[in-house]
Amino acid sequence: MRVLVIGSGAREHALCVALQSDPAVTALACAPGNAGTRAVAEAFLLQVADPVAVAALAREWGAELVVIGPEVPLVAGAADAVREAGIACFGPSEQAAQLEGSKSFAKHVMTAAGVPTAKAWAVGGPAELETALDEVHALTGGAPYVVKDDGLAAGKGVVVTVDREAAAAHGRAVLDAGGAVLVEEYLDGPEVSLFAVTDGTTVLPLVPAQDFKRRDDGDGGPNTGGMGAYAPLPWAPAGLVDEVLATVLQPTVDEMARRGEPFSGLLYAGLALTSRGVRVVEFNARFGDPETQVVLPLLATPLAGLLHASATGALAGHPPLEWRPGAAVTVVVAASGYPEAPRTGDPITGADGEGVLHAGTAVAPDGRVVSAGGRVLAVTATGDDLAAARQAAYERVAGVRLAGAHWRSDIALAAVEGRIALP
Ligand code: AMP
Ligand code: GLY
Repeated sequence: MRVLVIGSGAREHALCVALQSDPAVTALACAPGNAGTRAVAEAFLLQVADPVAVAALAREWGAELVVIGPEVPLVAGAADAVREAGIACFGPSEQAAQLEGSKSFAKHVMTAAGVPTAKAWAVGGPAELETALDEVHALTGGAPYVVKDDGLAAGKGVVVTVDREAAAAHGRAVLDAGGAVLVEEYLDGPEVSLFAVTDGTTVLPLVPAQDFKRRDDGDGGPNTGGMGAYAPLPWAPAGLVDEVLATVLQPTVDEMARRGEPFSGLLYAGLALTSRGVRVVEFNARFGDPETQVVLPLLATPLAGLLHASATGALAGHPPLEWRPGAAVTVVVAASGYPEAPRTGDPITGADGEGVLHAGTAVAPDGRVVSAGGRVLAVTATGDDLAAARQAAYERVAGVRLAGAHWRSDIALAAVEGRIALP
C-alpha cells in the first residue's frame, strides 16, 4: 500500500515511523514533512490548506491511502477532495470536522447525543459576554471563568482565569477580531485524552494518554499546543475506556451518522474526570499532538491496515487492537520565545538521535538541521513502566542541543509519584 501522510509536525513523524514498520506499506510519503520525516518518507512541497493541491498530489504520487494529520486541511475539506479523486482517505469530511472546527457545533451534537460536557453560553456581543460571565459566576461561585474562541486556535484560544476582567478582555478581543465566543462552566479534575479510530459506525478506542498544555513546570505559564505526554495512565479508574466508549464516543459517532454527516477518522475526546463524573472538554477531529507520539509506540497492531479499514468502512471486520506492555513518554523541546514569538533558524545537534521526533525543523541550505517552528522536537522513549520511560525520555533530551530551547522537566512526574488524585 502506498501511503501519503499530510502534515509537518511530530505527530506526522510519529505516524510515519509507525506506518513504516507496517509490512503492508510499500511506499511512504509525507507532505510537506520536516527534516525528520524526510529520513523515513519521501517529501513534497504542499499547501496543506488547499484541498485541490492535496488531492492532486495524492493522484500524481499514486497514493492508495491518504492520512491527514492536522485539523486545518480537514476543516478545509481535504478529505472530501481526496475521496472525490477515488482515493481512500483517513480523516473526516469538512462537515464532520466541524466537531473540532466549531466548539458551538460540538456542543449541539453533544446535547443531541446526551454526551456529558460543560454547560456553555454562546456569546455574540459584549453585552451578552457580561451576562454570560454573571450567569457562570452565579452557577459556579468562585470557580475560574473559562472563555473560548469558538473557532480553530491551535490550542491557544482558551483562557481559564479567576480574574473576571482578564476573562472579559479575552472575550472582547475574540469578538473584536470578528470571532464568536463560548463561555463555559469550569471543569475540575485531571484531564485525559482518549483517541478512537472510527469508520462512522464502528468505534475502536486507543489507550488513554495525558497531555501537558501549559508551558511551565507545575502547570504555570500560558497554554501551548502541548509540552509533553505519557501513556497509559496508571491512575485512571478501571473501566474508564469502556465508560467513555459507551457514554461519549459511540453516541457522538451515532449522532453524526443520524445527521447525515458521518464522522470517520480519528475522534479525539479531551475529557475531564470531574467530581461529578466524566465530562468532555473538547473534541478534536484528528490525532492529538503530542499524545500520538506516546500512543503509537505502544500499538502493536499494524497501523496502515487499521487506518485503511477506517477509511473504507471496514472496521467491523478488523481484529481487536493489540498493545505492547509498558509505557511511553514524550517531552517537547520548544524554541526560545514559544508560544508567543518562537525564534527559528537555530541549528540543532542530536536531532537524529533515537526517539527524537521532529516538529518544527527544516534542512538549511548548508545541510544542517535547524529550528523552523515553536515546538521543535518531541523526544520520546518507551520503558517497562512509566518511571523507566520517563527516565529514558529525559536522557534523550539531554542528548539534544538547541540554543535557547526550553522544555518542562515534570512530564509524567506526578503520575510516577502517584500524586494524581481523582476528585
Ligand atoms: P480546548 O481548546 O477546549 O481544549 O481547551 C484547552 C485547555 O483549556 C483544556 O485542555 C483545559 O486545560 C482548559 N479548559 C478548556 N475548557 C475548560 C473548562 N470548561 N474547564 C476547565 N478547563 C478548561
Ligand atoms: N494535544 C492537544 C491537541 O492535539 O490539540
